[in-house]
Amino acid sequence: MSGFIHDAGKEAKPFLFVLALVAALGGFLFGYDTGVISGALLFIKPAFHASAFQLQAIIGSLLLGAMVGAVASGYLAEAMSRKWTKVLSGCIYFGAALWSAFASGTTELIAARFILGLSVGTASFVAPMYIAEIAPRRIRGGLVSFNQLMIVAGILMAYIVDFLFKGVGGNWRWMLGLGAIPGIALAVGMIMMPHSPRWLLERGRDDEARAVLERVHRRSDSIEDEMNDIRRVVAQEGSLRDIIGPRVRPMLIVGLALAIFQQIVGINTVIYYAPTILRFTGSSVSSAITQTVFIGLTNVIFTVVAVLLLDRFGRRVFLLVGTVGLIVSLLVLGLFFGAPGVRHAVPDLALIALIVYIASFAIGLGPVFWLMISEIFPLHLRSPAMALCTVTNWAFNFLVSFTFLSLVGALGRTGTFLLYAAVGLIALTFFATRVPETSGRSLEEIEQQLQGKRRGKSRGHEVPAVGSDVGS
Ligand code: BGC
Repeated sequence: MSGFIHDAGKEAKPFLFVLALVAALGGFLFGYDTGVISGALLFIKPAFHASAFQLQAIIGSLLLGAMVGAVASGYLAEAMSRKWTKVLSGCIYFGAALWSAFASGTTELIAARFILGLSVGTASFVAPMYIAEIAPRRIRGGLVSFNQLMIVAGILMAYIVDFLFKGVGGNWRWMLGLGAIPGIALAVGMIMMPHSPRWLLERGRDDEARAVLERVHRRSDSIEDEMNDIRRVVAQEGSLRDIIGPRVRPMLIVGLALAIFQQIVGINTVIYYAPTILRFTGSSVSSAITQTVFIGLTNVIFTVVAVLLLDRFGRRVFLLVGTVGLIVSLLVLGLFFGAPGVRHAVPDLALIALIVYIASFAIGLGPVFWLMISEIFPLHLRSPAMALCTVTNWAFNFLVSFTFLSLVGALGRTGTFLLYAAVGLIALTFFATRVPETSGRSLEEIEQQLQGKRRGKSRGHEVPAVGSDVGS
């Protein structure tokens, strides 16, 4: 456990943790919104006599906005900087959270949630990108995963807010409106934060870049190493078309596959529908809601484990072990619903399986997807490539969340969970054979690796090419 804490003390100045926390407020907005809406909808429905279609549109408009936001911020993060894109995202969230709280009808609410989505889509990837670009390599995994930690903290906070306000008049307005607080905190906090040193170096602002690195890195030799690495990569010209070129294609495939698998193993069916799944098992409404808070808590606890250990043991081991956990728990859920004998013998098995499922996601695909897409792309393509992976992730989030109940109708509960388990198996095979280790290397070394060059040193040993890395 001491790996991250020990290395962090040696590598980083305290300001870096303030910076990572402020930047990760973007993740908090993402999580808060994901978590709050399921509870709020229960009260929005009678308040506006909303139809099923309108309720779906209230959820879906945010996801749609997030896709547009992710694409737009791929451009903004370059043009106006990571820092100012994050300030903008906080301001938009602040305004749109208040608008949604004061909405006078479903149309206004749908519009406000589309705008909120623009902010959430932006925040979802500019936060990990900004942190990855500033962090010393040896603690990059843990620091970038602060963002995932804030996502799950946001989800848990939303469950708690839903729980606390459920008996208060006009409660859904409070549930949605309270999101304005982390929104403004992000905007104000980011105004006080520096630019990404990589973004500065790309623009020839070397002195400013060094000043930023000096504010956060403890070791001066690591500052010069980083500056030289970044300069070398910046010097290599490239164009946007390289994104589909042969050098970057393998990494784009890894990024997109992680984006898709992260969603199609069914994570958001659990996040959005945990109470529904627990009701399938025969739980009462009130105990289903209490058990859901427990699931949210498990998500936070295991994300903390990932933050502490990802840099020590590497990304691959967590990805693989986590995915095995997902498959096993999905198989158990399938068995539970398919075999009445099992259901009667161990009535709590579904809850246990859901907890194992969420813990496995929290140590594996949850943080590793966001972390890896901030590490594997070359600097000049990082914004558009991350935007592409993020938009794909949101699109599949939309697809899976909206097909879950129909899938249960068509395939039954057992069939649905077995289908997710089969997807998990394909994911596991892909991860085992195609995903490289990125731990302990500078972003520039990773870039050199993916271009197939053997170069540089990391922790005193030669960096192998990507292909030879797999399975190490
Ligand atoms: C995923 C979200 C998910 C959350 C749950 C994130 O990494 O991208 O879709 O809701 O984790 O923990």
